[in-house]
Amino acid sequence: MTSSDFRPAVLDLGDALLRPWGRTLDLPGGTVPALVAAAADPQIARWNPLRATDPAEAEAYLDRCVTGWAKGTAAAFAITDAADGSLQGNVALLWTNQAEGVALVGYWLLPTARGRGLATRATTAVTQWGVDTAALRRIELWHAVGNTASCRVADRCGYPYEGTLRASHRYHGDTYTDEHLHARLATDPPLN
Ligand SMILES: CC(C)(COP(=O)(O)OP(=O)(O)OC[C@H]1O[C@@H](n2cnc3c(N)ncnc32)[C@H](O)[C@@H]1OP(=O)(O)O)[C@@H](O)C(=O)NCCC(=O)NCCS
Repeated sequence: MTSSDFRPAVLDLGDALLRPWGRTLDLPGGTVPALVAAAADPQIARWNPLRATDPAEAEAYLDRCVTGWAKGTAAAFAITDAADGSLQGNVALLWTNQAEGVALVGYWLLPTARGRGLATRATTAVTQWGVDTAALRRIELWHAVGNTASCRVADRCGYPYEGTLRASHRYHGDTYTDEHLHARLATDPPLN
């Protein structure tokens, strides 16, 4: 472990708890079925495809999260409801150039959790946690150009638009999609 490695933590948003994805998460109804259900949501499948479309894939997804936490290279949090523990979504950080302090952030929410600012609050909390505990210098956020909701979340979380990446990512099949690049620097002024 180095001083910039991610270390497991629980982040308390009041109405939601952000908890490391892992075998001990024990979501109501089962963590693997919850992941498979999330992967089947059309908006998640369209904009943030999860390789968790069946139980075997979901187990492998969980294993990757556990490995990321164990190695300190990725910090994947399940957003859970503080009252009943149910899954609400996901926010994750991934080092892309740890030596230079550069990481990537990503998120998705289940349909019932959308439209009440939860993605904004959870992403802001994870960003601040990463800056405070893992010495993030620059956090990048990439989203497909058509994903208006994600573009708004990026702006709301203090990740200004920096440019358009041409044919940068293959979300489905053989088609490469243009993406917006947003980024936040640790030195950017805090949000109000
Ligand atoms: C993108 C996503 C995480 C947004 O979650 P959310 O909790 O609904 O977002 P918030 O409530 O924090 O809203 C943030 C902003 O986005 C806007 N927004 C939310 N859904 C929107 C939609 N479908 N279309 C346009 N704007 C939308 C909100 O109005 C708000 O903007 P405002 O400040 O101007 O009012 C959620 O829609 C989702 O999980 N989508 C599928 C997966 C995905 O796209 N992941 C991101 C991949 S890069």
